[in-house]
Amino acid sequence: MKKFVSLFLALVMVLSMFAVATAETETKKVGISMPTQSLERWNRDGSYLKEEFEKAGFEAVLTYSDNDAGRQVNDIQNMLADGVDVLVISAIDDGALNTVMDEAAELGVPVVAYDRLISNDAVSYYVSFDNYTVGVLQGQYVETALDLANAGDKVYNIEFTAGDPADTNATYFFNGAFDTLKPYIDAGTLNVVSGQTEFQQVATAQWNTDNALNRAQTVLSSFYADGTVLDVWLCSNDSTALGVAQAIESDYAGTNPIIVTGQDGDVANLANIVDGKQTMTVYKNVADEAVVTLSLVQAMFAGDVDGAALAASFGVPCAYDTESYETTPGNKVESFLLVPTTVTKDNLQYLVDIGLYEMGEDGYLLAK
Ligand code: BGC
Repeated sequence: MKKFVSLFLALVMVLSMFAVATAETETKKVGISMPTQSLERWNRDGSYLKEEFEKAGFEAVLTYSDNDAGRQVNDIQNMLADGVDVLVISAIDDGALNTVMDEAAELGVPVVAYDRLISNDAVSYYVSFDNYTVGVLQGQYVETALDLANAGDKVYNIEFTAGDPADTNATYFFNGAFDTLKPYIDAGTLNVVSGQTEFQQVATAQWNTDNALNRAQTVLSSFYADGTVLDVWLCSNDSTALGVAQAIESDYAGTNPIIVTGQDGDVANLANIVDGKQTMTVYKNVADEAVVTLSLVQAMFAGDVDGAALAASFGVPCAYDTESYETTPGNKVESFLLVPTTVTKDNLQYLVDIGLYEMGEDGYLLAK
């Protein structure tokens, strides 16, 4: 009998050790919710994220919600019902996600806000680029290109186009650029001919190219049809810069070169840079953003996120920032912020060198 009991106990021990081992190696499921496939970058983000997580042994569910905030809520609810262990979300409309974020919190599913912050305390971490700096780089480009500090009495005319008010990033980009150029606007060196200097006046719903095109055409026909010279159009990103460049082609009578800024390095915009229809873009390596997100999630599941050490381990510059972003007033969120880079006609080769683009024989870049 004694022998039988100890045999039984031994069996129980072996079985429970087996249970612990399988729980530890159990495949984790990540739900990746991206805004839309209609803008180039999110296709890259989605596929890099899925690929990285799958390579690391995760099961990955990837959805695009066609820039429809209601659909994104649905997609995330389906992921929760599907039993995801963690959510990586880039919000279409920050304000629309509150209920589903509360649902994630109730289920104990952690959320990583990816690229765009979500104003809800269910968010455990934020992974992005330094978005204010994106705008600063655009402003500084203009400042240097026109040598504004030494402009004397010269006056340059400028217009602004910003992003989607539903996207928390949009105001950071705009403020970074506007704050950089404001001293020159105040001094009269830069003149916003339309007078439209408020974010809400220059915003572009859904970052949509046609919306940016339409507003730019209206501004050009209302304020520049009399031959007024335009020198700069500061656009927050590439999808809006594409619309503005089209409007300049169709509705601007002058022939002077106009500085047009952007962000992302979309292939169509890189072609415009080669052709002189856009002047610069701020490039953000979203392959790095995916790698950072994966490492963070792995550290979360290992129960060990030492933010500063983690940020230092990526092999690319990344700030660990615990001060700049809040999910609700007073509730700071730990953020991992990668560094954006200015790209112009002169350093297009940089994009080839980092391995994500190739130079076509026609001199235009192609995404790899
Ligand atoms: C991203 C930009 C992008 C924009 C429109 C922003 O949240 O940070 O890279 O251009 O959304 O998709």
